Amino acid sequence: MRSGIESSAPSSPPPSSSEEETLDMLRKLDGGDGGEEEEEQVMSEVHLGCPPGLSGPYISHFTIYLSHDIAHNRQSHELDDEAMASPIMELDEDGDLVLPRRAISSEAPSDGYSFRIQHNITSSIPNVGLQVWRAELVLSDFVLHKIVSSSEFHGAIALELGAGTGMVGLLLARCVDAVFLTDHGNETLENCAKNVQLNAGLLNCKAAISVHELDWFNGWPPEASTAEAPFSQGFSWTFREIEQAENASFLLAADVIYSDDLTDAFFSTLEKLMSRGSRKVLYMALEKRYNFSLSDLDVVANGYSHFRSYLKVDNEMECPDSESMPFFVGKQIDIAQIPQYVREYERGHDVEIWEIKYCTPRQSSGSEAFMT
Ligand SMILES: C[S@@+](CC[C@H](N)C(=O)[O-])C[C@H]1O[C@@H](n2cnc3c(N)ncnc32)[C@H](O)[C@@H]1O
Repeated sequence: MRSGIESSAPSSPPPSSSEEETLDMLRKLDGGDGGEEEEEQVMSEVHLGCPPGLSGPYISHFTIYLSHDIAHNRQSHELDDEAMASPIMELDEDGDLVLPRRAISSEAPSDGYSFRIQHNITSSIPNVGLQVWRAELVLSDFVLHKIVSSSEFHGAIALELGAGTGMVGLLLARCVDAVFLTDHGNETLENCAKNVQLNAGLLNCKAAISVHELDWFNGWPPEASTAEAPFSQGFSWTFREIEQAENASFLLAADVIYSDDLTDAFFSTLEKLMSRGSRKVLYMALEKRYNFSLSDLDVVANGYSHFRSYLKVDNEMECPDSESMPFFVGKQIDIAQIPQYVREYERGHDVEIWEIKYCTPRQSSGSEAFMT
């Protein structure tokens, strides 16, 4: 039996002080009866229409249409918009959430497949990795586009940072040789591991897919456990896994830039990870979040400006000045060219994807530069 649940919209964030900026960058919710001990809750826009009262975890189906006919996509969007105008959340026979988009097609498409993702609908700030964020879905579209239009990811090793529910890594696991899904905190890591299990039938059975603790405040490399896989404990790493991760060609990250301290720790981890082992490229999706700033008396995207301060922007992705190395070089990807393969979200206009490399002096010959 399907039971309809009326939706209620989350409250909009108030103007913020600097301490509250992190909260403001995510969607802050009214904390119910406002008990002071209750942790403040935030909600991803992907879960709009889901009543905040529903505490997780829930399983949602994300349908992937592999046909990248943009005209077809547009037509579907018009239908979707009607469904999004009056969102009513439903649960299916298994108790899984039926997101509004899914109303147009409850079956897995003939030219695609359907992923099951366990997630919460709201969470405290330390547990935001239990939700699915819009940037993860845009990055999923980007990865799917690469998979259908090139062989770049085929047979590669990839590592996702701040993977949360792990959707991007799971999609990659259909074509890479190995994927490391990394995040921090047992609850988020256990939820991510659950999603690997839920989608086992869809993954490339030859791909090694593993979930690991990687806290950016502890940097890289992580501490290795002395036991060898599969006997290593929990989400720890073995020496072999660390070595394999250093030989990844692709790093991926979505929505990990929402507080300046975190951005600093993230780039510090990247510096170490990208300067060891094989040359790597990072594909990073972020949501440009605006706040009203009392000091600027204007609406600004401070978190975004801090992120940009790490990058030299160069569309040719060259290392232009060897004297100032090492540095990150970045190129913004035009997401208007990427069709929407994942149906159940509104892409919006504030998500960006960046291709980022790390330029270091070549260790062996001294003067010549290379990108790791
Ligand atoms: C907004 S969520 C994004 C999750 C997922 N990528 C998505 O977009 O759906 C931010 C992610 O960064 C992770 N994160 C926050 N601080 C971290 C840290 N110090 N080390 C590693 N991951 C961290 C969170 O656990 C969470 O998974």
